[in-house]
Amino acid sequence: MERAARPLRVAVLASGRGSNLQAVLGAISAGRLGATVVGVFSDKARAPVLERARAAGITTRALPPTGFAHRLAFDAAMFDAVEEAAPDLVVCAGYMRLISEPQVTRMAGRLVNIHPSLLPAFKGLHTHRQALDAGVTRHGASVHYVTPELDGGPVIAQARVPVLAGDDPQTLSDRVLAREHPLLVETLRLFAAGRVALADDHVVVDGSPIHVPLQLDPDNALTPASLSDI
Ligand code: GAR
Repeated sequence: MERAARPLRVAVLASGRGSNLQAVLGAISAGRLGATVVGVFSDKARAPVLERARAAGITTRALPPTGFAHRLAFDAAMFDAVEEAAPDLVVCAGYMRLISEPQVTRMAGRLVNIHPSLLPAFKGLHTHRQALDAGVTRHGASVHYVTPELDGGPVIAQARVPVLAGDDPQTLSDRVLAREHPLLVETLRLFAAGRVALADDHVVVDGSPIHVPLQLDPDNALTPASLSDI
């Protein structure tokens, strides 16, 4: 199940700032991630993520949804463009659109998303506000396979952070984002090593299905969750 030595070809879909892309690029250039970003794709022509990608010499494609008759047509065009880059894996890193079922099916097992909550808690938008309103003491981020259900696909790995007294959505978001970056990089390292796959809607790591997501530990290693984490 180990991959060959060739770098993992990663396409990134993003709508905004691009700090997760930057973390991936940083890990690649530091020699910590055996991957190459083969294209950055956005639904927003002015997204800062595109500038970051261009600065790193990466091919970019902005495809705004205006002009498409419907979401299915837009998504088909977007994923046609993505497929031209021949990625092994497509990473949604702050891509703020629902992807329609035909494209999710087309990309099955090759499409992942990073989401700022401990899924299945707090799907959708404003996750930090949702967490504060719910009064939870732990929050975090998840990397999961994309399925047609919004933020509902099998979770590969998570990073937890405490919710502290006095937090507001911004302080909580900052704390989560700082852990998103190593979470995404470490999850991509698993993919680059050929250690993770999707089989029958289950995440398989090193050949065995996992029943709870891997956890990012304080040393930025992904480890199996202990029973106390469940
Ligand atoms: C990240 O916090 C990511 O988890 C979130 O958008 C932010 C993008 O930041 N994604 C979602 O909310 C998807 N539902 P970035 O552009 O700096 O990487």
